Amino acid sequence: MNILGIETSCDETAAAVWHSQAGDGGRILGEKVASQIETHARFGGVVPEVASREHLATLPMLVEEVLHQAGIAWPDLDAIAVTAGPGLMGALLVGTAWARGAGCVNNIPVLPIHHMEGHLLAPGLDHQLPPFPFVTLLVSGGHTLLVRVDGIGCYVQLGQTIDDAAGECFDKSARLLGLPYPGGPAIARLAESGDAKRFTLPRPMMNRDNLDFSFSGLKTAVMYAVRKIDDMDEQTCADMAASVEAAICEVLVGKSIRACLQTGSQHLLIAGGVAANLTLRRLLETQAGEKEIEVHLPRLEHCTDNAAMIAYAAAQRMEQGIAVAENWDARPRWPLEELSSQ
Ligand code: KG4
Ligand code: ZN
Repeated sequence: MNILGIETSCDETAAAVWHSQAGDGGRILGEKVASQIETHARFGGVVPEVASREHLATLPMLVEEVLHQAGIAWPDLDAIAVTAGPGLMGALLVGTAWARGAGCVNNIPVLPIHHMEGHLLAPGLDHQLPPFPFVTLLVSGGHTLLVRVDGIGCYVQLGQTIDDAAGECFDKSARLLGLPYPGGPAIARLAESGDAKRFTLPRPMMNRDNLDFSFSGLKTAVMYAVRKIDDMDEQTCADMAASVEAAICEVLVGKSIRACLQTGSQHLLIAGGVAANLTLRRLLETQAGEKEIEVHLPRLEHCTDNAAMIAYAAAQRMEQGIAVAENWDARPRWPLEELSSQ
């Protein structure tokens, strides 16, 4: 089975081909991501209309390149999987309309895939998924969720952020420090040479006995701390970056381990753009290891937006025989839990 994945929900145009056959774990035959970061960086964030236009200009050629890389042609495809939401409406429309057109012309079924389900299952691209149920920490630019995965399409939300997402906190803190968009990687780079103990920042909700998060207070604390600094030299900026990173990561790790202990899960997966953060990955492995919880990490390029995860999620759905909705549209808002009730 060959599945073409297409992802255009935000600022990366991506295509990939996933190949699997009965009994094997499957593999990626080709994948490419065309990042729009440079285009949006000068605006300090994603400009939706610009994103849509870039997707439109980039996607057709990118798909041809990926098919060439995979060594297959359109008739070799069994399905096209496309991100149908959540995301930017215009950006989603480009991907879904193009996928529908390609599916129609080539007589290939088109499967709408939930972007967060793609992230959630992405660790399976690089290593076999652990047995169900397991816990996944899903940390992207717009979402911070702890999910119990009971099976493909069966997701129980254990906790979520009540305000800003972790990625948003990285991005907003970076902006306060005058760092470029996207803020997460910029903070992570600077933090390498910083002292995380120099600034005392809150660990919001850390000691509350639930699995929810809150990051907007942390961002405000960063704002006040930055205002107090008269001379923001390079070292001070690095120390602040390290302090912010430590605060975010410690909360994410603490709550993820609590989720595993509360649900009795011995397997913890992390996914989404923030999962590319090396401090988070190291801290998670050390602290989860102490509790005999096994951590499953996707490769760095499969943490951030990519199309392999979309094709892979579709493959898992098809293998489970999960029916595809006849009528569907791009959905900028689409709660993950709705998948469980389908
Ligand atoms: O999953 P993703 O690529 O796109 C969304 O679906 O949102 O996540 C993007 C988020 C951004 O907030 C970005 O700053 C953050 O992931 N991010 C990171 C790192 N790489 C990306 N945050 C911290 N450290 C990183 N290395
Ligand atoms: Zn994403």
